[in-house]
Amino acid sequence: MNISIAGTGYVGLVSGACFAELGATVRCIDTDQAKIAGLNNGIMPIYEPGLADLVHRNMKAGRLSFSTDLAGSLGDTEILFIAVGTPPAEDGSADLSHVLAVARTIGENLEKYLLVVTKSTVPVGSSELVRETIAGELKRRGKAIGFDIASNPEFLKEGAAIEDFMKPDRVVVGTDSGRARELMTRLYAPMQLSSFRVIFMDIASAEMTKYAANAMLATRISFINEIANLCEKVGADVSLVRKGIGSDTRIGSKFLYPGPGFGGSCFPKDVKALIKTGRDHGSPVTLLESVEAINERQKRVLFGKFSDYYRGDLSGRRAAVWGLSYKPGTDDMREAPSLTLISQLLQSGCTVRVHDPVAMDEARRRLGPAIEYAADIYDSVTGADVLFHVTEWKEYRMPDWQKIGSLMKHPLLIDGRGVFDRAGLPGMVCLRIG
Ligand SMILES: NC(=O)c1ccc[n+]([C@@H]2O[C@H](COP(=O)([O-])OP(=O)(O)OC[C@H]3O[C@@H](n4cnc5c(N)ncnc54)[C@H](O)[C@@H]3O)[C@@H](O)[C@H]2O)c1
Repeated sequence: MNISIAGTGYVGLVSGACFAELGATVRCIDTDQAKIAGLNNGIMPIYEPGLADLVHRNMKAGRLSFSTDLAGSLGDTEILFIAVGTPPAEDGSADLSHVLAVARTIGENLEKYLLVVTKSTVPVGSSELVRETIAGELKRRGKAIGFDIASNPEFLKEGAAIEDFMKPDRVVVGTDSGRARELMTRLYAPMQLSSFRVIFMDIASAEMTKYAANAMLATRISFINEIANLCEKVGADVSLVRKGIGSDTRIGSKFLYPGPGFGGSCFPKDVKALIKTGRDHGSPVTLLESVEAINERQKRVLFGKFSDYYRGDLSGRRAAVWGLSYKPGTDDMREAPSLTLISQLLQSGCTVRVHDPVAMDEARRRLGPAIEYAADIYDSVTGADVLFHVTEWKEYRMPDWQKIGSLMKHPLLIDGRGVFDRAGLPGMVCLRIG
């Protein structure tokens, strides 16, 4: 099967490499020439466990290639995925300009039947806009070429993207065409041997499913953060409360970890976009408005603890920050809570020295000389008045606390993830959420 994927970002690259691994011939396309040139030379644009091996192996086998030429790729493509970014526009809605640019190029160049599948996260009605855009271009050219539209939202998690793609809980496909359904069934057939299901539905429901899934997960995070903050006030321990409620099978324990708020390229923008959709349709999603407001507040909780501890006397203090990516397993810093914290620290006159196992280059690109970059975790804490544990990388789990306490000016640890047992922190003062 010949597949092309427009957009070689997190989703496009992982999907392309995985489809190639399953035997398809895949061309990943992007407008970013440097990214494509890098990939053609085996250089990965992102850090994702296992991805480099998968890409190199499939390139070598001739099943995976990279190009900037979308128009020229249409001739031998049976299914074209749109996996370009849909960042938030000024008003919170999803910016569809990249998606519709791909649709226009398709309409301008299509010569034979094509199934166009939206994999980007797009609001209800967007796939219809893709259809209209392609049809409009074909009409302008006076061409009567058949094509179909489908929606196949992606549910992978950064940091476990390959595992998620290869062994998904479910694959959701929205389509109104028998031919599209047959093609998508054939595409996912190699994965049907494992136990997941392909769930077919109409296009609007598939588009909504993706937003509803992310909104539910974001809601759980804001919920447990509110409970954690309340636990702190009333003298309860949120880690025990979490165990107590998570063991109820109706509730489950996933996405119930208190922390410094959710970030990343998806939850914040998808919650915003769904709020906007609600307002546009006269059906406000007030629950999600609260989820968003709680999250904005939560991103400032760690700084608040630091400020309270030193009674607002912060100027000139040194802060160490462990963990910059928005979660472990990725170098993605989009909307990361670490960015809010660092900005608050800098604004209050602190010096900031950071560490992250994989996101240091990304941090240098974003923050430049405004902060200091540590060689290792011990280097990061030398002379520090506070250590913030922001992203729960495994390598932070068992450091030498005695050494850390002796290197710091004042041994204050603010544990944003609640992973350290206070009893196992000799000589440290530990504050945590909940
Ligand atoms: N990152 C995730 O974990 C994740 C998970 C599920 C769904 N999604 C959704 O998938 C979509 C893509 O997300 P991402 O994180 O992969 O984005 P990304 O920013 O990592 O990559 C998008 C890519 O599209 C390219 N692009 C832009 N316009 C183009 C065009 N006209 N033709 C070809 N390429 C073009 C960009 O250069 C970029 O490389 C978004 O809608 C996102 O919400 C992301």
